Amino acid sequence: NQSIDQVSLQAFEWLTKFYHHVLAHAKEALIGKQYLEERGLSQEIINVYQIGFSPHANEVTTKFLEKKSFNLQHLASTGVFTRNDQNQIFDRFRGRIVFPIRNHLGKTVGYGGRSINGEEPKYLNSPESALFQKSKMLFNFDLARSEMKKKGQAILFEGYMDVITAAQAGITNGVATLGTSATEHQAALLKRYVDHVVICYDGDSAGFNAAYKAARLFLKAGCQIRVATLPDGSDPDAFIKQNGGERFKREVIEESSTYMGFVMTFLKKGYNLKVEADRIAYVNKIIEEIAGLNSAIDRDHYARELANEHQLSFETILNEVNHLNQARGN
Ligand code: GTP
Ligand code: MN
Ligand code: MN
Ligand code: MN
Ligand code: MN
Repeated sequence: NQSIDQVSLQAFEWLTKFYHHVLAHAKEALIGKQYLEERGLSQEIINVYQIGFSPHANEVTTKFLEKKSFNLQHLASTGVFTRNDQNQIFDRFRGRIVFPIRNHLGKTVGYGGRSINGEEPKYLNSPESALFQKSKMLFNFDLARSEMKKKGQAILFEGYMDVITAAQAGITNGVATLGTSATEHQAALLKRYVDHVVICYDGDSAGFNAAYKAARLFLKAGCQIRVATLPDGSDPDAFIKQNGGERFKREVIEESSTYMGFVMTFLKKGYNLKVEADRIAYVNKIIEEIAGLNSAIDRDHYARELANEHQLSFETILNEVNHLNQARGN
């Protein structure tokens, strides 16, 4: 007598094999195979990540599961199937590339389905369930864990493709959020394994803004943060495909900014520094950020930098920083 969760885990295990098999052998999946090839994924990495393809036709997936003796009613919470108004059953991911999402034990608990024909949404994810809690998990955490621990560093990406393309290029300490903003829970999870987190989001304004939020979150969790920036319009998977893993390591990861370096650039966007009132508001905002740094040496360093940049008195700024810092009870 098994719980719904146990049955679901078994179904996910079969389904992952099924989708992967369909990608490898079904005629209709040829378009999916070509798509992955164009994106530069090798057969080896497709196998490692058990990437698959969900068939177009209704009921192919459900018939497979019934043949494996699953009662479909017990699998409702997996969200793999939906019914239309005529009570016809559909595979949620039909016609999509399927990326299995594994929990910390390496068991599939959901999927990300990417459309390959421009259909919206671009990515369709499994719904939340007891097994699949997006805010508490990180994509690739199970495979990245040992390398993260060894290096003392994790790379946080936005997307599945960033993680997989990086892994193919030998960068195996990458994880990603599951299509939502990073959470405190995820920050605490990583902090158990690493001190250093490099945030490596897309080179667009969404990525830039999300990186700021994630940076504050991880800093609060006690991590040492760096923020990598990609060229405009690029993202890690595109950069690696174009330039290779070595250049990615040298030009993106190793040249990533410190938290304050990033923040100084990031916050500048919101102010017109040619206007006196804006400049003062910006300086005060940066002083607040500096006051939040744990290390007195860092506070001294950035107070000096800010003073130089705006022809202000270093002593005045440092006084203000220390005053705020003490008010925080640091
Ligand atoms: P590719 O276009 O395949 O390279 O994906 P990407 O990782 O570059 O996608 P993008 O930067 O647009 O999004 C990053 C992550 O956000 C994806 O891996 C998904 O988890 C999620 N995401 C993107 N688009 C959608 C969407 O339309 N719906 C949902 N729910 N999630 C999305
Ligand atoms: Mn997008
Ligand atoms: Mn993006
Ligand atoms: Mn992207
Ligand atoms: Mn991409």
